[in-house]
Amino acid sequence: MLRDLILTLYSLAYDRLARPLIFRDSAQDAHARAMNLLRKLDDQPQLLSALRLIHKLTFPAQPIQVGGVDLPHPLILAAGFIKGEGFSSEQEARTAADVRDIIPGWRAMPALVGAAEFGSFTRAPRMGNSGTVLWRDPASLSTQNRVGLKNPGALAAATFMARQREHLPAIYGINLAVSPGVSDQDQELAELKEMARTFTANRLRPSWYTLNLSCPNTRDDPTAHQTEQKARLLCGELADMLDAPLWVKLSPNLSGEQYAALLKTFAGVGVRAVIATNTVPLSAPDASTAGVGGGRLHPAALEAVRHLTSTQKQRGYPVDVIACGGVLDGVTLRHFARMGVRAYQYWSALIYHGPLAPALILKESR
Ligand SMILES: Cc1cc2nc3c(=O)[nH]c(=O)nc-3n(C[C@H](O)[C@H](O)[C@H](O)COP(=O)(O)O)c2cc1C
Repeated sequence: MLRDLILTLYSLAYDRLARPLIFRDSAQDAHARAMNLLRKLDDQPQLLSALRLIHKLTFPAQPIQVGGVDLPHPLILAAGFIKGEGFSSEQEARTAADVRDIIPGWRAMPALVGAAEFGSFTRAPRMGNSGTVLWRDPASLSTQNRVGLKNPGALAAATFMARQREHLPAIYGINLAVSPGVSDQDQELAELKEMARTFTANRLRPSWYTLNLSCPNTRDDPTAHQTEQKARLLCGELADMLDAPLWVKLSPNLSGEQYAALLKTFAGVGVRAVIATNTVPLSAPDASTAGVGGGRLHPAALEAVRHLTSTQKQRGYPVDVIACGGVLDGVTLRHFARMGVRAYQYWSALIYHGPLAPALILKESR
């Protein structure tokens, strides 16, 4: 079959040529280069057409409905790849949005890989953490980051996206996060509502929104947002006001009881899907703490998904579980599929298997 042949050749070329070259740079430099390339591709209609053709040739049609959304296939690019530049002020972000592509990959990545989640976006722009914030560990096929929610802020992101309205992908999600440091619940809710209103007022119609309750790379304790009481308050109001399904993203390593209680809460307030999981905070090479994704996250993500899917089946809650955490190939995808999962998000796979990683995973999972 042509698709298999193309993917076999791609895989050989990526493993033997591209990856060794890319891995000569640090993870952070390689990521910066990738973002520069994506920014160029976003702006090149002919190259975008080529990416769409590659997509057509390499991704099988495998339509599926998950979390109230019709997806062309069950793999979604996770939040944190198409998230945009960081800025220190709204003014700076808005000015930049007027003159350049502040969300590299917004057009090129969906053209190549299909469904993708944009963000996380916070209410105000954020510069994120400084210094080295991204590492890879090839031995365990893992990534580690403490990017710290770098993003242009919801207003600049929405303004930029609205201006490109006719070129936005057919299927995409928007991931929203409460600003680190905000712990007053009324303020958290006000921020989220303001962000939702910003996207709606700009007449953006994403296929879904994700509330990121689990950002590990800021000074906040990510588990603090993941209580039943807080989830009920934040998700209830958001689900009511959004004109797209609401999904929620959780951390790994919560207790089985906590996952069960959260799932019950989500079902009660109309959340349509839960993404499990975000990265797991572990010690980084520079002795800071940073979120690990990929192979080292996989066991904890499996455990989280096991708790969520078994509760979901026992109670019949109408909340789909979307697996995220070390979906790197057909084998790791099947670990989740055996628990009844039907849709998956990936990030680290791009580092180890390149831009067509999701097509390879789909091929291997058949
Ligand atoms: C550099 C980087 C930045 C990320 N930023 C975000 C983010 O802004 N919001 C979010 O919900 N997840 C973010 N993530 C987490 C990923 O979406 C995903 O949950 C995690 O990497 C686990 O998937 P993986 O094992 O396939 O890498 C980020 C991950 C990486 C590597």
